Amino acid sequence: MSAVTSQTWHNLEAHAQRVRPLHLRDLFAADPGRFEQFSLEHDGLLIDFSKQRLTTEVWNALHALWWAADLPAWQARLQAGEAINHTEGRAVLHHALRHQGTRPILHAGLDVMPAVRAVLEQMRRFCVAVHSGEWRGATGERILDVVNIGIGGSDLGPKMATQALAAHHVPHLRVHYVSNLDAAHLATVLQPLSPRTTLFIIASKTFTTQETMQNAASARRWLVDALGEPAVRRHFVAVSTNLTEVAKFGIDPDNAFAFWDWVGGRFSVWSAIGLPLALAIGFDHFERFLAGAAAMDSHFFEAPVERNLPMALALIDVWNTDFLGAETRACLPYSQSLELLPRHLQQLEMESNGKRTTRDGRDTGCATTPILWGEAGTNGQHAFYQLIHQGGRLIPCEFIAMRVPDFPLAGHHEKMLANCCAQSEALMRGKTIDEVRLEMAAARIPEAVIARLAPYKVFPGNQPSTTLLLPELSPYTLGQLIALFEHKVFALGIIWNINSFDQWGVEYGKQLANRLLPVIEGRVGADNLDSSTTGLLAYLRKK
Ligand code: F6P
Repeated sequence: MSAVTSQTWHNLEAHAQRVRPLHLRDLFAADPGRFEQFSLEHDGLLIDFSKQRLTTEVWNALHALWWAADLPAWQARLQAGEAINHTEGRAVLHHALRHQGTRPILHAGLDVMPAVRAVLEQMRRFCVAVHSGEWRGATGERILDVVNIGIGGSDLGPKMATQALAAHHVPHLRVHYVSNLDAAHLATVLQPLSPRTTLFIIASKTFTTQETMQNAASARRWLVDALGEPAVRRHFVAVSTNLTEVAKFGIDPDNAFAFWDWVGGRFSVWSAIGLPLALAIGFDHFERFLAGAAAMDSHFFEAPVERNLPMALALIDVWNTDFLGAETRACLPYSQSLELLPRHLQQLEMESNGKRTTRDGRDTGCATTPILWGEAGTNGQHAFYQLIHQGGRLIPCEFIAMRVPDFPLAGHHEKMLANCCAQSEALMRGKTIDEVRLEMAAARIPEAVIARLAPYKVFPGNQPSTTLLLPELSPYTLGQLIALFEHKVFALGIIWNINSFDQWGVEYGKQLANRLLPVIEGRVGADNLDSSTTGLLAYLRKK
């Protein structure tokens, strides 16, 4: 029996009936100790979920999902390297990539840690060589720009982390990312760069992804046109599980960084896919990043459900999505450095858990992952917060902020924090028509104007939110934060009884694009297509 068909789930439905009419402002008024009850702190990271629409009874009932879903047994399977990605027959061992202890981590009976540490050592040597200038381009010049070519998990994680850790960048090296198949992406990144001082990292788990292979081929042409074919080995390195294809591309096997099929793309920033990040921040910082994630692994595997941070986030998502009917969640980092976090989490959460077929091939019978979207505060406040405040939809929000700023310019951070806390307060409390009238009257606004405008100034409130507070934005805390979300995704997949580690949903479009390419190129005619696709293709070719 899965958690979704359990008595626990049934009990939660009954709780939801009782909670739906309650307003958060009343829950706060009734219980001054709400923050203490509904917040958790671990290793410097605070999660305040007191502004979620929870009661003590609901929270206790949600904890029962831990047992109903048999989560401890699934955690043990994950750690033991069982093929829990059953549709691809693969283990899920990204936690091995950041493992700090001496305990072996087994895959097919063998300890993976010696191979993991050998690649980390290869990365360290490479970073030192590039930073020190020992590694030089074909013309003997130092590398000044690194361009990572990859997409999805081979782009989003390292790109997000590189931006997030801007305050920790090494000097004299710029790291760029190219992912989109649209030539505008590669062309605009390359435009100010010199081939003589540019190093490319071709990052692709499969080394067959269309976008990456096209961008890699164009980048290679750009380099060869300027410096000739022999320059390729000084200006291209690769990160992949497919070292045969890497060699075919002409990359020196000594400059290929391996990883393994038990690392999912969206969980791969900890592997050699993190090489551009390690180059950007230096290898010692990259190791702190791994250490932060490892600390979160220990916490997730060891902490009881009541104190388990990833579980708390998972249970909140289940509650809002399956019992209160939320369709989306807004991720709102009050940090420019974390601007790309919503995008990384989009892939992590939606590619992992945007599914409706259970592990035993049935329909889940419940909604799975919410649509994730978001933007850095305060920019979002001037774009879409209007809808969150007054649009009438249930939109759980996730605020993320840090106590100490990464760029300490006087006058900024206090205002950021004030805005962050004000938004969650406003969303929770709302403003009643009586409060609006009183406020307007106090401002000596004429009664007729009050009568006309007051309805527009009402805020329903009761919009749930969680606030995550980091002590600072450092390699360690970023590692903690990303691993926190990874474990949340795993826990949700187990509760919903789906496989979080495959991505069949991205295949169909790729298959059809391959079929349409020869039609677009005019090599074959458009047969057996619907009239819309036929019409679009004919129009494109005519123009
Ligand atoms: O979007 C599908 C996907 O397979 C992702 O899971 C993966 O991160 C991305 O494509 C890139 O794949 P690769 O690293 O093999 O180029």
